[in-house]
Amino acid sequence: MFDLIVRRAHLAGKQEIQDIACRAGRIVEVAPSIVGEAAREIDACGYLVTPPFVDSHFHMDATLALLGQSRRNESGTLLEGIALWGDLKPLQTPEGIRERSLQLLNWSIARGVLAIRTHVDICDPQLTAVEVLLEVREQMRPYVDIQLVAFPQDGYLRDPDARVQMARALDMGVDVVGGIPHFERTMAQGAESVQLLCELAVERGLPIDMHCDESDDPLSRHVETLASETIRLGLQGRVTASHLTSMHAMDNYYVSKLLPLMAEAQLNAVCNPLVNMMLQGRHDSYPKRRGLMRVKEMLEAGINVSLGHDDVLDPWYPLGSHDMLEVVHMGVHALHMSGTAEMEALFDAVTYNAAQTMGLDGYGLEPGCHADMVILQAANQIEAIRLRAARLFVIRRGEVIAETPAVKSHVVLDGPGQDIDFTC
Ligand code: FE2
Repeated sequence: MFDLIVRRAHLAGKQEIQDIACRAGRIVEVAPSIVGEAAREIDACGYLVTPPFVDSHFHMDATLALLGQSRRNESGTLLEGIALWGDLKPLQTPEGIRERSLQLLNWSIARGVLAIRTHVDICDPQLTAVEVLLEVREQMRPYVDIQLVAFPQDGYLRDPDARVQMARALDMGVDVVGGIPHFERTMAQGAESVQLLCELAVERGLPIDMHCDESDDPLSRHVETLASETIRLGLQGRVTASHLTSMHAMDNYYVSKLLPLMAEAQLNAVCNPLVNMMLQGRHDSYPKRRGLMRVKEMLEAGINVSLGHDDVLDPWYPLGSHDMLEVVHMGVHALHMSGTAEMEALFDAVTYNAAQTMGLDGYGLEPGCHADMVILQAANQIEAIRLRAARLFVIRRGEVIAETPAVKSHVVLDGPGQDIDFTC
């Protein structure tokens, strides 16, 4: 007797339709036709079943901050976003942060996003957001895995209180050490902050995830320092470099030297195509650069790259509903990754690769993995991206936690009997 059997599932990479049997929160069998009964059976109708979406880069403390606000980031630049957040931050209340993050998490779960790494600004003397999001992390643990990154938004060295605040946030139970070297006063101080934060991560036994080189400056060199420090301190596999937008503008020779260094350091990298297509290139006239790391070349170099959503309705991004298929859709266009294998690789970038970045245990659709999965109204990964397909069922530990009705259109044409119902 099983708790749940998902029947007639299409799994990426498998020719034959599969059944998935779950017991006690784990997948126990995956086979073309499983004999046995279950407390609940779901017919996937040959649609794609995937492990849950994973957002490896998000900012939950600022999310939905623009709801009900008349102010917007009118210039669309990173720097106006930081300035606007500086104005809004003192107005944040614990109740407001909790309400907005829980509202966002409802959207996330409905869209099959069951793991999120969120940065949380620690440059607030009260550490209000840290306290609230630590509680939200525990409250929502049955439904979604949340990791917090201590993010010194105003600069680890530039903000005179950031070092103390960072230590306090880590003492409170924040999971990951963050950083923002390109926002320090000089390139040298940026490098110094990378070194200090890497040493801090060693001392604390924690992973690192830094905002790094998030500019259009072709000479920004912080990821090089991060890779070098990672190797020096033996942190391979525990370090993530987020954004890396300056890589788009770098000289090709330099990138040919940088990518093998990043691979040697086993850095994870997170590209945020929705938000950085919006923020970068704003100081250019024409042609305007895309501010995205070189994902295609990085994957070829053996670097684990994931795609993140980054922001939803906040000072840096005025749109979004936390749909990782929207992120991939933008990535396909902006990264010039429209080949079949390339689109499939970008689907992996919001599932398996992102799970690796977060170090999630028991992730996947093999026997022994957590019984976490999403049934999409799509035949395969490419159709899922094309349609930003409906998430028919979202399953966590063998239980359905969200359902969305199948999308069906009804078209009325001229003449009797000409109406058509269809899915597309
Ligand atoms: Fe970010």
